[in-house]
Amino acid sequence: MSTVFYRRKPLVVTSAKQSDLTDGWVVIEGDVMSVYTNEEFERLFDKVELQADMVPGGPDTDIFGFDYSWCKDEFGRRLINELLGIEMASIDNNIDGNSWMFKPYPLSTFGRLVGAIEQDMEEGFDANVKFLEVGCGIGAKLVLVSKLFGFQVTGFDYNLQYCNDACELLHHWECQNWVVENADALSVTALEYYQASDVIYLNRPFVHLEQQGELEHLVLERMRPGAYVILANYAAEPSVLAQSGWREIARDKLAIVLQKP
Ligand SMILES: C[S@@+](CC[C@H](N)C(=O)[O-])C[C@H]1O[C@@H](n2cnc3c(N)ncnc32)[C@H](O)[C@@H]1O
Repeated sequence: MSTVFYRRKPLVVTSAKQSDLTDGWVVIEGDVMSVYTNEEFERLFDKVELQADMVPGGPDTDIFGFDYSWCKDEFGRRLINELLGIEMASIDNNIDGNSWMFKPYPLSTFGRLVGAIEQDMEEGFDANVKFLEVGCGIGAKLVLVSKLFGFQVTGFDYNLQYCNDACELLHHWECQNWVVENADALSVTALEYYQASDVIYLNRPFVHLEQQGELEHLVLERMRPGAYVILANYAAEPSVLAQSGWREIARDKLAIVLQKP
């Protein structure tokens, strides 16, 4: 299984895959290919993290960049890297006219936002947090949320192939308590999920901003008070939502996390 790394500034690792020949990793850094032992590969992660910290303006939370600062354990980092590779490899540029092309919001950055929610809900933390991904694609983020945060995850997508891939991925990682459905974001099934979820992740399923805006409006209206939403590539106007009491938990270049009043 190969894992692909994307970084913009500075370019450190462009690709890495577990070596078939030795117990280690083959890593491509710029134009140079090297073989690392597992320990060296771990140190490489530290290097990536360090360089990210040195980027002017603080930790590199660039859309294709890494920000591992929220995830300290080795299993988590390895999981992120594997899933990033799978997600990137699955990018589908065939826009069918209705859906935004498969443009995943990077897992490393996404995980940080889920961490911010977990921290925010710490007081009344309930072990059965219900997480919903609208247009879950191949399910990489469902795996991340299930394995690293222990939430009950549900995802739906109108693309049946993506749903099948997501099921396979969740099985592969032996996730517990998950549901993947083949459903449309505007269907009755979806509306019921919006009402029942504690955390909803919505990353721009629609090409047209107006259509996207309508979906967001529907989701925000249906959500229960106190529930959280992660909006990425969104149409909503955060300042307008703030005026009606929505609480901002976190924000980055592409996404915002809000809690419903
Ligand atoms: C931009 S991708 C986001 C994928 C994933 N949620 C992520 O952030 O990595 C949009 C996803 O929404 C799905 N989608 C598009 N229109 C949809 C609809 N009407 N109902 C459900 N899913 C839809 C697409 O098949 C695709 O998987």
